[in-house]
Parts: sequence; C-alpha cells; structure tokens
Amino acid sequence: MTSPEKGYVLQVDDLDVRYSSEIDVLRGVSFALQPNEIVGLIGASGAGKSTLLRAIQRLVEPSSGSVRLGGTELTTLGSAELRDARRRMGMIFQEHALVDRLTVMENVLCGTLGRTGFWQAIRRTFDAADVTEAFRLLDRMGLDGYQDRRCDELSGGQKQRVGIARALIQDPELLLVDEPTASLDPAASVRIMTLISEVCAENGLAAVINLHDVPLARRFCPRILALHEGRIAFDGPPAGLTDAVLTQVYGEEAVEPHVSRRSSDEVDGAD
Ligand SMILES: Nc1ncnc2c1ncn2[C@@H]1O[C@H](COP(=O)(O)OP(=O)(O)OP(=O)(O)O)[C@@H](O)[C@H]1O
Ligand SMILES: [Mg+2]
Repeated sequence: MTSPEKGYVLQVDDLDVRYSSEIDVLRGVSFALQPNEIVGLIGASGAGKSTLLRAIQRLVEPSSGSVRLGGTELTTLGSAELRDARRRMGMIFQEHALVDRLTVMENVLCGTLGRTGFWQAIRRTFDAADVTEAFRLLDRMGLDGYQDRRCDELSGGQKQRVGIARALIQDPELLLVDEPTASLDPAASVRIMTLISEVCAENGLAAVINLHDVPLARRFCPRILALHEGRIAFDGPPAGLTDAVLTQVYGEEAVEPHVSRRSSDEVDGAD
C-alpha cells in the first residue's frame, strides 16, 4: 500500500469492485500517478477498464480499498464533497457524450456547469471568462470558427475534440479517458492521442487512458497498466509488454499478428 503522499495526483490502493453479483470485477487494484504521468490502461473486453475509471469517480461504489485524489480520500466523502472532488477530474468518453442538438460552444460550456450552479445552468447564462476560455480551447483543439455549429453536424474526430475542450474547461487535475479512439479511423486516432498528450503536457495533467489499440498505447503512453480479469497483470513501460504478457492479457490468438505487430503510423488528413 502506498502511503498518502502529496506528490501523487491519484493513489488507488487495494481496490475491489463488484456489481450486483458475488464476483469481484476489480480485485486488489493498486497504482499511483505522478503529476504529468500518462498511463495507458489496456486489457481484454470485460477486464474491468471502464469499471476502474467509474470507481475512481465513485460512479460505482468500491466494495473495499482506497482512492485518493491529491491526498483527498474519495471513498468516504459525503455527496457535496464528492461533487467538488469530481470537478477535479475531467472525463472524456468514447461516444463523446455531447448533447447533439446544442452548439459546440454550449457543449464546451457544459463543462463549467459543475461550478456555475443550478439556476445559471437552467438559464444557460455563462461567465464571460468561461466563454473566453472556451474560445481559447476551441482554437487549441483546431475548432476555431466552429462555435455555433450543432454537434450532430460534426465528424467523430471533431466531436472528440469538443469532448476534450469540455473536460479541460473544468480545469481538472486528472483526465480519465475511456476509449477515445474507438470510433475513429487510424489517422484520426493518432491525431486525437497526439492532442491528448499535448494538452496533458501543457496543463501539467495526469491521465488514465483506456485503449483497445495496443500499438497506440505503446506509442503515446510512457506507462502501461494491463488489467486481466480485474487484476493488474502488468505495470511498466511499453518495452516490457512482451508477447508473453500480451498472451496473458489477451489470450493466445490475439498476439499474432494484430495485437503485437500492428502499427499506428502517423498519417495526415482530415478527421
Ligand atoms: N453496470 C454493471 N452491472 C453489472 N455488471 C457490470 C456492469 N458494468 C460492467 N459490468 C461487468 O463488469 C465486467 C467489467 O466490465 P467493464 O465495462 O469494466 O470492462 P472493460 O474492460 O471496460 O471492457 P470493454 O473493453 O469491452 O469496454 C464485465 O464482466 C461486465 O459485464
Ligand atoms: Mg470499457
């Protein structure tokens, strides 16, 4: 068990999670993240990757163990304090989770609703400083001029950029990212991962990124965590992801050729 140290952004210790059945979906998961550290979370479908992201935010209640965000123990917080703590974590989803009928600007500003309060949210009146910041973020995301477009008019890659801007406007300490490239082609996937890596470096953010694409995880994540049946089977740099580890994590048939050999080469082009 890691001791509570201020230097860590996130400390997860001996975390167990079960849903309604008796079977633990996560078992004794422990790891700690330094500021700026980007971790790629890999593992077969059903291994517990999304569950781990949900448990960190307490969207699913851990049955035991500890989750500390910058030293704050989350598992024992009351609901008001938990809401505050969740604002310190930016979430980016596979399916973007945008409101399609709202504009790009409105979707980005939705990221501020956690702190602007109920009535402001209902009236959709936003602080001028937040609007200025949203414009800056859209520019940074390569979406300059898109602010008034409805989100259902955007490509998958553009939607993902809006989702990143919405997470960043919260000014989080940690990004939790679930399959950001699952609905994107290889070129758009590389561009989104490049963008996520860059904004983490620019903003001093740590990130946990669930990825199905092992070559993409190797390329963009200096540290890999592999989950196998709810336990951490590997924690280390991509160079340590040997065929033996990948076989344990994904099974025999996954290793040759498409998991260990496929490459996500950088490609130019539109999203
Ligand atoms: N809401 C839920 N209620 C009950 N069981 C669930 C629930 N969500 C997930 N599970 C189960 O927990 C296990 C882990 O699921 P999880 O979604 O965390 O896997 P994952 O690694 O994210 O998979 P994928 O790569 O397919 O997204 C699976 O066996 C799944 O069926
Ligand atoms: Mg998942």
